[in-house]
Amino acid sequence: MSRTRPLWAVIPAAGAGERFGGDVPKQYLPLLGRTVLEWAIRPFQARADVAGIIVAISAADDHWPGICLSSDRIQAVQGGPQRAHSVVAGLNALSGKADARDWVLVHDAARPCLTDEDLDRLVDAAAESCGGLLAAPVQDTLKAADNGAVARTVDREGLWRALPPQRVRMEELASALHRAEPAGCLAPDEAAAKERMGHRPRIVPGRADNIKITRPEDLALAEFIISQAGIARCGLAR
Ligand code: C5P
Repeated sequence: MSRTRPLWAVIPAAGAGERFGGDVPKQYLPLLGRTVLEWAIRPFQARADVAGIIVAISAADDHWPGICLSSDRIQAVQGGPQRAHSVVAGLNALSGKADARDWVLVHDAARPCLTDEDLDRLVDAAAESCGGLLAAPVQDTLKAADNGAVARTVDREGLWRALPPQRVRMEELASALHRAEPAGCLAPDEAAAKERMGHRPRIVPGRADNIKITRPEDLALAEFIISQAGIARCGLAR
């Protein structure tokens, strides 16, 4: 059973946050007294069955030493030019520690609002399946545009927004990502890499407010969500 195996977390945190702007990458911005990244790591640190947390940071990162994560389960490694390269760097750091059949949870450093309950559901869902991802059903009416004008309305029935974390077997993710890279077609997320191999990761309904910090106004929203969803009550290990 997968529950008897240790879990591992890989957190790509090597983005420069160019769309966000500012001098400090968004994962290091302050949020309720800590950084966005610390909140993103929190749910994994809180689980006793997560044996190790690999955080892939940029070579130019001088913020990591300043954050207070005193755990020998957390290791920083150098990420790459794109998110998928950073995930591969995290997996490389796990080889030799993790078994090929172990589950890896891949989460984004820029998503600080993941609740323990959503992570539980992802871990518990389909222990024997080929992995899964949190997702929220699309609520808005979707328009396909062409030259700034509506070309057509897209039927949202059956459409989901993919949300990290995603849960993948170590060996399957490594082979999916390594296969994609030489072809120059890096997958946008772990599920997409596996879909290209013909796998069908399970959709685990999750909270729509597991938001990604993308614009400055998202920080106030994240603060509200963390406070309201009870995440702040769980506290952060130092
Ligand atoms: O840029 P975006 O917000 O979509 O990035 C998603 C996640 O991927 C972030 O946590 C970011 O730090 C990470 N990333 C990375 N390496 C890159 C680019 C992005 O680890 N080269």
